Amino acid sequence: MAMVCLSDFEAYAKKYLPKIAWDFFAAGADDCSTRDENILAYKRIRFRPRMLRDVSMMDIRTKLLGTEISFPVGIAPTGFHQLAWPDGEKSTARAAKAMNTCYIASTYSTCTLEEISTAAPGGLRWFQLYIHRNRAVSQQLVQRAEALGFQGLVLTADLPYTGKRRDDVRNGFRLPPHMKLKNLEGAFEVCKMSLLDPSVTWNDIYWLRSLTHLPIIIKGILTKEDAELAVRHGVQGIIVSNHGGRQLDGGPATIDALVEVAEAVQGRVEVYLDGGIRKGSDVLKALALGAKCVFIGRPALWGLAYKGEEGLQDVLRILQDEFRLSMALAG
Ligand code: FNR
Repeated sequence: MAMVCLSDFEAYAKKYLPKIAWDFFAAGADDCSTRDENILAYKRIRFRPRMLRDVSMMDIRTKLLGTEISFPVGIAPTGFHQLAWPDGEKSTARAAKAMNTCYIASTYSTCTLEEISTAAPGGLRWFQLYIHRNRAVSQQLVQRAEALGFQGLVLTADLPYTGKRRDDVRNGFRLPPHMKLKNLEGAFEVCKMSLLDPSVTWNDIYWLRSLTHLPIIIKGILTKEDAELAVRHGVQGIIVSNHGGRQLDGGPATIDALVEVAEAVQGRVEVYLDGGIRKGSDVLKALALGAKCVFIGRPALWGLAYKGEEGLQDVLRILQDEFRLSMALAG
């Protein structure tokens, strides 16, 4: 099968992954209207292409908080990569490094932060944090990530509780016994998901600030009000995200929310976006509307499911080629 676009990887993953894993990756909350809107919204946005502008030389590199990456697409944090490929997050780290882009490793990784670091030394990585009720566990994770050379701390703000994903409920989704939330091993006995701290507020940014020198990036912002609060609380970056439509169903597509966030921020901190990026032209639309970089969630998992790190590199390379072509054709 020729893998030409990201939908080809999606079709492959759907066909070959066990149903319970596919359903978990694909899930949106409730009736999935926000998940689907993330994608539909791109189709409503049209370019105003300009002609005869000498596009023979193009530079698609950018910088994330000062560190150069090869093009403005990174890997969003998603849990449980071993459900897609046996080497799990180690493969993700290798692919990101090979493509010279940023990988945000999830709190819910099935490899340890140490394994991820060792798999791809020197790669640009940020660590995504869910704050748990047991603050000592979160503190230790942040400090471990910093010591291992992770270069940013991404606080996910949109998951005080896990959204209701119907297929996961129907399937009784849980990790197979041989897979573990390796970074939390020993921290909890049972039912790890319910130990998230729903009492987190903006003040906890100050707590995080006291734990680490890493830049703090807040993920899950959708409004100008929260963007303003994020800036005022001293974060270095904002990821406009609705968690791929897996949390509150009925919220906006991220590409629609991006406009008000970018307008409110006025360049004071870097603004990124995730959700629904499936083509190079989607990347270009997000950049045109104010994002410095975008991140992919599910497409990275499809790449892993196809061929591990090679498959993920294929996904990134296709997006890179499509992005470059869209830039040229849009002038
Ligand atoms: C996620 N997402 C997520 N976010 C996060 O901050 N920590 C996490 O552990 C996870 N886990 C996770 C698992 C799976 C299977 C999915 C699909 C998503 C959300 C993720 O970072 C990102 O916001 C979305 O995936 C972006 O949407 P697309 O690219 O999947 O459309």
